[in-house]
Amino acid sequence: MSVASVGYLRLGIADPSAWIEFGTNILGLMEAPRPDDQGARFLRMDDHPFRFMVEPAEKEGLTATGLEFRSKDEWQATCDALTAAGFELTAGSADEAARRCVSGFVSTEDPSGNLLELYYGRALDYTPFNSPLGVSGFVTGNELTGDMGFGHAVLPAPNTEETLEYYTDLIGLGISDDLTPPMPEGAPHTRIIFMHADNPRQHSLALYNNPHPAGVVHIMVEVETMDEVGLAMDRAKAADVPIIASLGRHVNDNMCSFYVMAPGGIAVEFGYDGLLVDWDNYTQTTSTIGDLWGHEYNF
Ligand SMILES: [Fe+2]
Repeated sequence: MSVASVGYLRLGIADPSAWIEFGTNILGLMEAPRPDDQGARFLRMDDHPFRFMVEPAEKEGLTATGLEFRSKDEWQATCDALTAAGFELTAGSADEAARRCVSGFVSTEDPSGNLLELYYGRALDYTPFNSPLGVSGFVTGNELTGDMGFGHAVLPAPNTEETLEYYTDLIGLGISDDLTPPMPEGAPHTRIIFMHADNPRQHSLALYNNPHPAGVVHIMVEVETMDEVGLAMDRAKAADVPIIASLGRHVNDNMCSFYVMAPGGIAVEFGYDGLLVDWDNYTQTTSTIGDLWGHEYNF
């Protein structure tokens, strides 16, 4: 297993300032003031230079998912495996790598058309993370767990089997849970396959078996206390940010969370208490419900 974590996301947003406002004033992320000649804005949640790159775009949604490798060697081995399997890789230029604060990266599409950026050697920002709302911290790993990435993302994967094989056989993620939740009458058959990287977070990336207009079903960020989830709910309500799932707890990663709709049609889960897994002693699960309680969805 060579993918250390999902390190960053690139979001295309018509009005990047609206997303920065949402990220800082609702979620409690910190804006990283980085100059960018393409007009992007950046959000930090820890010592990574950014976890979200918010770029001006007419077509809104997730534009790329950054997968972090532990070393150039492990990155190269994965690139070689993808090339041998017939996937096209585009090498990032030195300027593009500098913009992402990485030593090197390639771009490539998974079999469902999701753009990935595989990278190694991120330059960290050692100036302290300071949430503008006083959020004590986001759960992205510590000295015991190692880097666990920004959180998790659920990607549309209409070519489900092929895409799953791509992530498990070539990219090197492992399956943690295979969920087929009950759906209301007339809703499409839904299956979500949750996958983990080489860190204890129960899932870092998941595949949804249908297309999605935002290029992502939802993204999740995690805080360190239940009170911070409650405070975020209060902020969302006060700012009239649409709450699209009430407070609830998921069965597979145990996340206690609620969901809001962020600018650009991007659903964001805000949670606490996510399961940390010892993968040597884990058995993949198959779930037929998504929630232990709560999470009344209202899309
Ligand atoms: Fe989630």
